[in-house]
Amino acid sequence: MNIATAHTLPPSITLIDLFGLRRARPHTRSAIMAIREILEVPDPRLKTVSVPVEPEEFNDELRVLVDDMFETMYDAPGIGLAAIQVGVPKRVLVIDLQPEDPDAEADDCCEDEGCDAKRPAHRNEPRIFINPVILNPADEVSTYQEGCLSVPEIYADVDRPATCTVRYQDLDGNTHEEDLEGLLATCLQHEMDHLEGILFIDHLSRLKRNMALKKLKKLRQAA
Ligand code: NI
Repeated sequence: MNIATAHTLPPSITLIDLFGLRRARPHTRSAIMAIREILEVPDPRLKTVSVPVEPEEFNDELRVLVDDMFETMYDAPGIGLAAIQVGVPKRVLVIDLQPEDPDAEADDCCEDEGCDAKRPAHRNEPRIFINPVILNPADEVSTYQEGCLSVPEIYADVDRPATCTVRYQDLDGNTHEEDLEGLLATCLQHEMDHLEGILFIDHLSRLKRNMALKKLKKLRQAA
């Protein structure tokens, strides 16, 4: 997912612009990570309903998939990615909202005397959701201007429940429940849609969706 929110940003600036700067990797779990190809509309695989990760599949292959998904998402750059977007129809999502405050000043590197180095103020917060299920979505709705790595260059306002609880498994197969709000709640719901073969433009009216797809076609022809 790419996203821009009118709450915190001038309407003309989208987070994709702010993410133009490549950020440091949060950590390296495997020696070899690979950037995978991101499927784009109208690739029919994006309409696939993804299948659960089975208990015996919490293995190294799953770790490699998750590492590659982060690598691919940071490279794009985006703030969320579902496995089906790299052609793997499994119920696996990665999210990293990255900068909360794009104007924040860089932090000091450390407290060592004589060290003037700075590190980015916006820490990466990689999140992994395997077999996620949304519980008790709020009646209250929030609206964000959303984008999607599979629908490049297109942004549109989408209404979604403002808060929800998500039940999910981690890479070790342990189950967790967490209350989400704000951008994380929206991003999680956007990524969960991918697991059902739904794109954010499917939430738009037919007219707006067709306009968006036409615009994308034009952009591609111009490229
Ligand atoms: Ni998306």
